[in-house]
Amino acid sequence: MIPAQIIASKRDGAELSDEEIAFFIAGFTDENIPDYQMSALAMAIYLNGMTERETAALTQQMLESGTTLQWPYDDYLRVDKHSTGGVGDKTSIPLAPLLSCLGFQVPMLSGRGLGPTGGTLDKLESIPGFRADLSLDEIHRLTQDVGCVITGASKELAPADQKLYALRDVTATVPSIPLITASIMSKKLAETLDALVLDVKFGSGAFMKTRQQATLLARSLVRTGNCMGVTTTALLTDMNQPLGRMCGNALEISESIAVIKGEGPQDVRQLTIELAVEILLSTGTESSHAAAADNASRLLDSGAVYEKYCQMVRAQGGDPDAKLRFSQCSEVTAARSGIVSEIDTEQLGAAIIWMGGGRVQMAGRIDHAVGLEMLVRVGDAVQEGQPVVRVYCEDSEAYAFPIRKALTVSDEAAYLPLIVETISK
Ligand code: URA
Repeated sequence: MIPAQIIASKRDGAELSDEEIAFFIAGFTDENIPDYQMSALAMAIYLNGMTERETAALTQQMLESGTTLQWPYDDYLRVDKHSTGGVGDKTSIPLAPLLSCLGFQVPMLSGRGLGPTGGTLDKLESIPGFRADLSLDEIHRLTQDVGCVITGASKELAPADQKLYALRDVTATVPSIPLITASIMSKKLAETLDALVLDVKFGSGAFMKTRQQATLLARSLVRTGNCMGVTTTALLTDMNQPLGRMCGNALEISESIAVIKGEGPQDVRQLTIELAVEILLSTGTESSHAAAADNASRLLDSGAVYEKYCQMVRAQGGDPDAKLRFSQCSEVTAARSGIVSEIDTEQLGAAIIWMGGGRVQMAGRIDHAVGLEMLVRVGDAVQEGQPVVRVYCEDSEAYAFPIRKALTVSDEAAYLPLIVETISK
């Protein structure tokens, strides 16, 4: 087979055969096909899309480019969650120990932040000593001994995705549903799971800006997961305002710990519980939503999830009792009285990057201590001069203007439901 002919077929809108996809991904992984040809194919896929069959074949080949986690035949179900990412999105941190307390094993492979949405691993690394680079052996051992881990995908798992994602990032080919599906699902399938729940976000602070785009992505992910033998469901959730109050690495860890202890903001707790409910229902562990939600809530309130979290952090080299470091803070106030009717969440995420709390290039360093604390939510009434956002940063005054501008205060009532749909087929 000739790479340029395969690229030309896709460029002209033809369907690629399973063999052509396998040839291309294998060649790219072992460096027989250079980056420029892979980039050209990614652009052709971006422009012309892929059928369900092609997407499944691409996912399968990216999965087979590396090894997979292997588990003993025992009574445990292995489960995980993936979020498409959003500002203040921290539910993985309470969810992993919660699912472990519910009797599952959770080999959670997470990512780093790139762009306005933060990454779970960056957040966890604000805990002194925490290691997010576990080897395959460590992932296997800690998942079985502790019940949960949260770590980066080691380079043996879906290496084709790791190479391709880096290329897509610099060739403007990230927002393609088949490429995103194959990227996310090849990594998740490499964990050899029984069930997966996805949090697919839409809105100004998400990767997918509209509900319609997010629905298409959720359907593609759910279909691919189920076709490949992992019971997969998705929640479609609103990201037109930050999740919870805290945005920024160490700040989000402090809020996650509050949720883990049965406290914390209602929206983070609710989403964490609903993601756990999806796993309990999709694995048949519980048969009613009410019983599943009750079970998850009781565990959060009991202190058991906090104990499991501490065990996981210690097993990964971190000190759960160490004091987190936050920058000094100052407050941004409302420019007028009225109702908070809109929050440009992407702008808030961008402000955190400018402060040093996020990265614009994969190799960039992160300042864990900076971030924002939201003092209001969409729908809240505010008075002129009332503090609306607390800015944690040495040079916080410099951010007052863009942060104030990101909040629209008007006379219109507003309400944003958090979870808008469950997609299971
Ligand atoms: N996250 C991933 O892991 N891959 C994508 O392509 C997009 C988001």
